[in-house]
Formats: sequence, C-alpha cells, structure tokens
Amino acid sequence: MQNTFKADDLSSAATRAAELRNILDDANRRYYIHDAPNISDAEYDRLLRELKEIEHAHPDLRTPDSPTLRVGSQPSSQFEKVKHLAPMLSLDNAFAPEELVAWEERNARISREVKDAGYIVEMKIDGGAISLLYEAGLLVRGATRGNGAIGENVTTNLRTMREIPLRLSGENVPKRVEIRGEVYMTFTGFNAMNERRVAAGEPTFANPRNTAAGALRQLDPRMTAERPLRFFAYQVEVDADTGEQLPVTRQSETLKLLESWGFTVNPNRKTATTIADVLAYANEVERFRETLDYPIDGIVVKVNLLGLWDELGIVGGREPRYAIAYKFAPDLVTTRLLKIEVNVGRTGALNPYAVLEPVEIGGAIVRQATLHNFEDIARKGLRIGDMVLVKRAGEVIPQVVAPLTDQRTGEEIEFEEPTVCPSCGTAVAKSEEEVMLYCPNGACPAQIYRGLVHFASQDAMDIRGMGERTALQMLEASLVKDYADLYDLTEEKLMTLEGFAQISARNLVEAIGKSKDLPLSRLLYALGIRHVGTHAAQIVARELGTLEAVLAVDEAKLAAVHGIGATTAAALVAYLGESHNREMLDRLVQAGLTTEEPVERAAGAALAGKTVVITGTHAMSRKDLQLLIERHSGRVAGSVSKSTDYLLAGEAPGSKLEKAKELGVEVIDQQQLVQLLGTE
Ligand code: IVH
Repeated sequence: MQNTFKADDLSSAATRAAELRNILDDANRRYYIHDAPNISDAEYDRLLRELKEIEHAHPDLRTPDSPTLRVGSQPSSQFEKVKHLAPMLSLDNAFAPEELVAWEERNARISREVKDAGYIVEMKIDGGAISLLYEAGLLVRGATRGNGAIGENVTTNLRTMREIPLRLSGENVPKRVEIRGEVYMTFTGFNAMNERRVAAGEPTFANPRNTAAGALRQLDPRMTAERPLRFFAYQVEVDADTGEQLPVTRQSETLKLLESWGFTVNPNRKTATTIADVLAYANEVERFRETLDYPIDGIVVKVNLLGLWDELGIVGGREPRYAIAYKFAPDLVTTRLLKIEVNVGRTGALNPYAVLEPVEIGGAIVRQATLHNFEDIARKGLRIGDMVLVKRAGEVIPQVVAPLTDQRTGEEIEFEEPTVCPSCGTAVAKSEEEVMLYCPNGACPAQIYRGLVHFASQDAMDIRGMGERTALQMLEASLVKDYADLYDLTEEKLMTLEGFAQISARNLVEAIGKSKDLPLSRLLYALGIRHVGTHAAQIVARELGTLEAVLAVDEAKLAAVHGIGATTAAALVAYLGESHNREMLDRLVQAGLTTEEPVERAAGAALAGKTVVITGTHAMSRKDLQLLIERHSGRVAGSVSKSTDYLLAGEAPGSKLEKAKELGVEVIDQQQLVQLLGTE
C-alpha cells in the first residue's frame, strides 16, 4: 500500500495528516500498551515520515500533540527527574540505499569535507538508551532517556548491572562526563528467563526490547537485578562547562577510548570510506544478523570525523545530521495458519500453539508460533485456514500477531476450545482467572513427563544429564513413575535405556545423588506445584524451615505469610492434602533428601535496628515493601510512635503523616527507601 502524498492541496493535506495521526496514535497504543502491534515497524516508520513531510510543507497543520513530536516516553512521576548534560537525540531513518546516498548529498551541501571524512557503521541495538554520569571517574548517576532532555534517575537499578563500571579505569578520564549507550537483553538470557517463568507458572515477557526497557524502571532494584541485562556503550558527552576535550578526532577512536575505560563496546563495527562501502557492510550485517545473540533493528551510520558533527547541525532539535539509522526489512511476514494444536504443561495447563505453513523470516524457517492462551485466540479472532501476520525478532519464539481478515475465503474454520485433555482425555477445567484451561488429572502422562523434566531442571533439582529425552525414556521403560523413583535408579537399570553406557549411567546416578543435598526450597519448587515458583518456594522454606513444618502448615497461616497469597497457599495445601503426594514425599525423605532450609543471611543490614511504618498507597504492594524492609534487617510497625525511625509515605497518607510530623519522625518515599537499601 503506497500512499505517497502530494503536498499541494491544503485541504486534502489536512485530511491526510489527521488520518495519519489517528493511525499512528492507534499503532502506538497497540504497540506500547497492548503489546499487540497491528502494523509492521517499517510501515509505522513510513507513515510517520509521510506525516513529517506534510507538516514540513504546511507548518500550520502541525498540532501540539502530533506523534512526530514524540521523542520518547514521558518521564514517570515515580523516579526523580534529571536533566541530561546535553539532550539525548534520536535518529532519522533510511530504508533504501538511495536514501543513504541522499543523506550524504544533503550533508555534502552543508560541509564539503563530508565525503572525505569517512563513516563508521555500528549495530543499532534494540533496547533502552541510558546515560551514565561519571564525576572524577565515579558513577554518580544513571538515567533513562525520558523525553530526550529530561530523564529518570534509575541509578540504583543500573548499579545492579555488572557491565556498568562503577569506576572508570584507564587514561584520560574527564572530570565530568556522560556515557551513553544501550541496555539490552541477549536472546539466550531472555529465553532462559522466560523458561524459568513458565516453570514458576508466571507470565512470560513478549520481547527482549520492552523487557529490557521495562526492567530499568523497576521500583525494586532487586527486580532489575534478576533480569539478565547487558550494556553496550557508544557515545561520550563531556560536560561543556569543564572545558575539557577528549584526545580523539574520530568516533572509531571514541569507541576505543570507551573500551579502555572499562565499557563493553559492540565489536561488530566497521569504518567505511564511501556510502558504497557502508552498503556492502549493511548487506553483510543482514546476513550475520541471525547469528547475533541480541536484537538489532538496523545499523547506525555515523560520520566518523567528530569535527564535522557540530557543523552538520541538528534537524528540528532532535535528529543530528551526522548519523542516520538504516533499518532492515521488517521481520513481520504473512503465512497460513494450518491448525491449532495443544500442548499439556507440567501443571496441566493446556497451551495452544499455531502450526503454520512454513515461512522464512529473516533467514530462518518458521513452522510454529505461540498463541499464549485460548482467550488470546478469541481476542485476535483467529480462524484455522486464515492468512496471518507472524512476527519474529531474532531468536524469540515467533508470535501470531493478527489474522488478515480481508483475505478470508469463507472456508476458514472457527477454533473450538478443547473439552478434553489431548493427552489423557480427561474433561478439562477452567482456572480461576478463566484464561487458562487445564487438565485436572494428576496422573496425566503429559503432565508427568513435563513434571519430571521440570523436577530435574537447573533451578529445581539440577540433575545434570537428565533432559527431555532421558525423562521420556525413563517413563516409557517404566523405570520411573514419580519423582521418588528417580532415587531408586541404579547404573544397571539405566543401562537398559538406549544410549546409556556404564559411564553415562554412573554420571546420572551421581547427579541424582547430588541433588539430595539441595535445600528444601529447591525441592518445594521442583515438585511443580501450581503457583509455587522459585520465589514462593524460598519464602515458604525460609518461613517454615523444615519439610515437617510445611506438611503441618495451616492454609490461613500460610496465606498470611508476606509474599505468599491466598492462591499460592491454597494450591500448596491442596497438593499436600493428596495422599499420593504425601506418600511420595515420604519416600523422598527416606531416600535421604534434605528437608531443611539453611538459615538465610539477611540481604543487608541497612535498616538494622530501624522501625518503619508504612502508610498510603505505593507502587509496590505493602507485603512486598515489608518483605524488602525485613530482608534488610528492619522492622515494620503498625503505628507511628517516638520509636519510629521512618514513615514510608505513599499517596494519600492520612493521619499517620500528621503524627510523624508532630513527633519529628523522618518521612521518606519508596524511591528514598530503595536508595537507602541500594547503598549497601
Ligand atoms: S547514536 C543521535 N548509536 O537508537 C545519536 N544510537 O533511534 C544518538 N541506538 O536513542 C544515538 N544503537 O537508543 C546510536 N550504535 C548506536 C545505537 C543507537 C542503538 C538507539 C539509541 C537512540 C536510538 C535512535
């Protein structure tokens, strides 16, 4: 759909501009808020550009809320706002070779030296931009990009990232300098994190980019620390007031300098003499892109000679002429949805997935895509036989975005939710949230298989050498019927399985034996109880200390434990109430598994001896706040008195705030609390 606009007719320009604004606003909402894009990124960029052209030709048509004025997300109120030393700019885009040539020509009209200055090509990392302020070599502040001029102070979160130096090393470190770059997630890290979440029965994240950007703005830095975040540096902004100058004349030297200070700089970069060289490298990148373990959405071409950057200037206060993004073709394709199949998970959850007519996306053949859950299928209105939009970003599991309803022939078939489990035929049940269907049969073969794989997985009992294949073999040979049977396995028994020789059998028996020493929390998680993820398992184990206490626990008491909700408590108690589970646990104890949780050291002592009172509403739940305070050795009290050290006040604080002021108790907000803890 080519919609090039002739900007000579004012009234049709106005109509088209309004239309474009609507489409773009809607697309933004779908993308950022609903995480369900309806148009490809390339299409979005093209429409935005068309709107920019109209507004350029008719400045009167520019509205104060035009999507063309959007630099980034607005700073949120939760974090302190900080002004960047110099604005964090964005980039103009090019989509075709001619556009890169045109960019060079425009620049050459401004500075005759451009064509001799050379270029540097960098990867355009798809993550979240940040700026790190170093004073006398020390990290003093880290901020998100925000609206470009003003960002959010997320220092405590950034400090959790090991790839961000707290102190710069090497020579020529300026007195005051901002280092900019991109926080991102590797596909490996992202997928592993999602697998852990699936195992814990938690919702998965949609893509590494939004997850990385979101992780920066977590209010609890521990949440940030749990996400596998990485950082590539690419820009240095020296505080102009210090009058200092860097000993570099080219961007390629700046990148080396960043490396010498201790930053990771993306090794995939290349200097080029001409635009033809740039294009040749761009082709190369398109080919090796699939092998990169992080998302990129194109390359950034920069004039290498720094002396020209100021001279070339900035367009509209937001896009410097010295650099341009050259975007790749979108990884959105259309193909046919052949059928919808259903997998049975460990907890019995039925997970639908799409079987697709094989299609190539960015060099890989895609045959299947996730469909999240049945509600999602209904919401998207997918029918079997539909032509569908499929999205794939690098190594991320492909997703079905939407059906192309205008291509329907009438032959498409409405999908019907399964009424029985595809593995054992038991009638399905609906979960509390009504989103998930599940098989209630604990003896369902598919569940036992998934459960066994989970039991042996790294975060659970960490039995090396026991993957999906081995689990299936053990079940098929009836060597194992439940988890406890694993501990009766011998070398001889394992050697009856195809592919096992003496050494591999011995190694597996040893690995199984080693798992007996893991703490109670691992066992609780390994059992695969619904809603009991790693976190909940740890809380329960720490709170109760022994398996004996867990077996005796009362549901109401458990639900009252901070960090455990009624749903988790009910699921755990229901599991323990089943006699065959009890029997299996007995056999695990007899096999010699650890039944205790070693006493945990507190995460820190920042609040040792301090009493905190919580009032008002906060971004974090009260339970989580209390847990956070207690983990740092503090105590939470219900009312303000002279012995209160801090009043943690949120929105609508009420009378406790008055009381605190009266008694001279220090009043802090969540951000200040996190800062107190973050200094440890
Ligand atoms: S340079 C104007 N280099 O792309 C100069 N940006 O669309 C500042 N990005 O906000 C950007 N990789 O978040 C530059 N190698 C790279 C980049 C890069 C990713 C992001 C950055 C920026 C956005 C612009």
